[in-house]
Amino acid sequence: TEVFIVYRILEKKELAPKHIMYRIEAPHVARKVQPGQFVIVRAFPNGERIPLTPVMWDREEGWIVLITFVRGKTTMRMANELKPGDSILNVAGPLGNPAPIEKFGRVLAVGLSAGIVEVFPIAKALQEAGNDVTTLHVAPAPMAILKDEFTESVSRHIFEGFEIQEGWGTKEIVAEIARRGAEKVKELLSEENFDFVLTVGPAGAQKAVFNVVKEFGIPMHADLHPIMVDGTGMCGSCRVTVGGEVKFACIDGPGFDAYKVDWDELIHRVGFYTDLEKRALEEYLK
Ligand code: FES
Repeated sequence: TEVFIVYRILEKKELAPKHIMYRIEAPHVARKVQPGQFVIVRAFPNGERIPLTPVMWDREEGWIVLITFVRGKTTMRMANELKPGDSILNVAGPLGNPAPIEKFGRVLAVGLSAGIVEVFPIAKALQEAGNDVTTLHVAPAPMAILKDEFTESVSRHIFEGFEIQEGWGTKEIVAEIARRGAEKVKELLSEENFDFVLTVGPAGAQKAVFNVVKEFGIPMHADLHPIMVDGTGMCGSCRVTVGGEVKFACIDGPGFDAYKVDWDELIHRVGFYTDLEKRALEEYLK
């Protein structure tokens, strides 16, 4: 027998172009979720399931905040059709492993593009655990989100924004995020001492940052987000190679030691799925 739970939308807000925030009633998730974990949302009957990260939550009031980056059919339908008072069909989770919340010392937590939303709960918990946390968000200028929230929660928040040039597509934007991210991280690591680096974002941009971090020999934790379908280790779609072994990001991750990740394989696979997402979106717009 299935228990019928209503995942009511308490609040919906556009934080920046394409970044939609939903505050949703989900008491079972709010009670248990730890930074680094995610949920799988099915918004519509027969709709696709998408992994999203609880960004904030209130254990007592029983709500979680999810922020979607509109880039596919489902996130676009959610943005267009859902309003406060409506319900989401299903929120499964929390899933995956919590991020390592330990005493590292000085931490640099890097959110590349929309990856910044996943950095938030982890960076906040690291600061609360006694670390001195600097967060860095690299994204197109209009997409600066959660600035106040970060400023209140960590030692220092840096936004590295840029203008999107005419004619740029996703590929050029991600390349710019990778270039800027690597450059800024290099500057920070050259001028200051850090004990631990954490990244979330597009695989190509994370790899660019990793190449810099590696030169400094600083431990790095990377949150990987290959396509996820069931979130339970059954479908195999989130397969990644870590330390020469096959792992599933949903049950073994989503966070891994960046030094062990097969970045090129991941980039190859994620590229493939991005194309699928693009086609789903084009079909929806027809
Ligand atoms: Fe299906 Fe991980 S999402 S195995």
